[in-house]
Amino acid sequence: MTEMSLYHQLASAIIDQIRNDSFKPGEKLPSVRALAKQQKISVSTVLAAYGVLEDRGFVEVRPKSGYFVRRVLNKTPKAPSINQSTSHPQKVTTPQRVMEVMRDGSSQQFIAFSVAVPGRDFPVVHQLKRSFAKVVRNETFLGIGYDSPKGNQPLRRQLARRAMDAGILVSPDEIVTTSSCQSALGLCLRALTKAGDIVAVETPTYYGLLQLIEAMGLKAIEVPSDPHAGMNVGALKLALEQWPIKAILTIPCYSNPLGSLMPDDQKRELIDLIYHYDIPMIEDDIYGELGYEGTRPKAVKAYDHKGQVLLCSSVSKTLDPQLGVGWVIPGRYQEQIEYQKFLNSISIARLPQLAIGEMLAHGGYERHLRHARESYRQRRDRLTELLLEHFPSETRFTQPQGGFVSWIQLPPGTNALKLYLEARQEGILISPGELYSSAANKYQRSIRLCYADAWTPEREMAIKTLGELVSQQLEDHS
Ligand SMILES: Cc1ncc(COP(=O)(O)O)c(C=O)c1O
Repeated sequence: MTEMSLYHQLASAIIDQIRNDSFKPGEKLPSVRALAKQQKISVSTVLAAYGVLEDRGFVEVRPKSGYFVRRVLNKTPKAPSINQSTSHPQKVTTPQRVMEVMRDGSSQQFIAFSVAVPGRDFPVVHQLKRSFAKVVRNETFLGIGYDSPKGNQPLRRQLARRAMDAGILVSPDEIVTTSSCQSALGLCLRALTKAGDIVAVETPTYYGLLQLIEAMGLKAIEVPSDPHAGMNVGALKLALEQWPIKAILTIPCYSNPLGSLMPDDQKRELIDLIYHYDIPMIEDDIYGELGYEGTRPKAVKAYDHKGQVLLCSSVSKTLDPQLGVGWVIPGRYQEQIEYQKFLNSISIARLPQLAIGEMLAHGGYERHLRHARESYRQRRDRLTELLLEHFPSETRFTQPQGGFVSWIQLPPGTNALKLYLEARQEGILISPGELYSSAANKYQRSIRLCYADAWTPEREMAIKTLGELVSQQLEDHS
């Protein structure tokens, strides 16, 4: 083991002890010499470890007294405020920025908080490799022509089994596999709408949805969302009374970008509303399995006995976007979705479907989810600490109960796009608020940060730099 990894190891062990309260705020840490003797390591290793703790804000040095655990920041974050008025239906414009963010996010040159991808440090990657190797050895995946339009049967069987956890009872034949959640959403919109139609979406919402709406010549009506509870059903009702809305598109379980979770009562109200107006709802459930507390939340589709909800998802957030496996549970629109899938791609690659099917059946998927959820919860907590410490006090942000993105509202007098550009110059990527609405200038003071990756000194320092850039903007403004 190298000297370098030893001091990092020691620093993380002490951080764990601070987090589980073995060392309390204000308490003195063992002296450098005492710890070196106790651990049978060099004084310089302990000093280096204490240096890391100091840099990361866990301890402070008191001259001639030693190292002390910092007092817990006596602040509770405030949730962002979202304007609760509904906009008129409008054409979504294609911001070049979306493509810039996606392009930069795939480069290794930056410290990225911009693109919502799972943490890269989970052992599941080895399990996935084993599942792929097993199906390559044992299964036929070439020389059999096109697959059924519904997709691979063993995978659909596993998906049907897992859907029960979300409260959805379906047979494997009521599921259609796709190459991603984005393509699943596209199939649904194509099946349900034609150019010029109005689609209701929550605001702020994932830019991929807005870009799909734009590409298909549809108009978006943006229904305000609550940072905790998601789409405002009262506001949706008013919009439905006023406009000929053809479909509703929402992310009820751990939305992107707010991380909100719709309460079950509200899910039932949503179902009542779509039944009353007899319109379909597309439910994006891509983060549904990533809740931090207890059992996974029910999908809105769990309350739908008429088949009016089309649920879309994929393994892009739970495993990896490179796997190219998504699905739709289309309810009464099954035939239209199968047809749209045929138009779009005839069928999708069999090998990843087989491997994911194998992984879900025997590959430790549940174990991986437990580990990922706990890691994301801890990573969210660390983000909270860092934001409270380094960002101006008027900053507001969400603390999601699932998923791995947080929505941050910067203080009045700042500009998120300016921050995005300045941070990019420093090699740090964030996602500016303007991407999350079709209305120009709507989220000029907001950014989204993805906290899926493990915190490292570099990533923590990047948050500090972002905080300094925001403070600088405030100073320049005053
Ligand atoms: C809410 C939501 N839906 C869909 C997608 C796209 O998922 P996929 O990679 O499976 O197309 C994303 C990716 O960020 C997302 O956040």
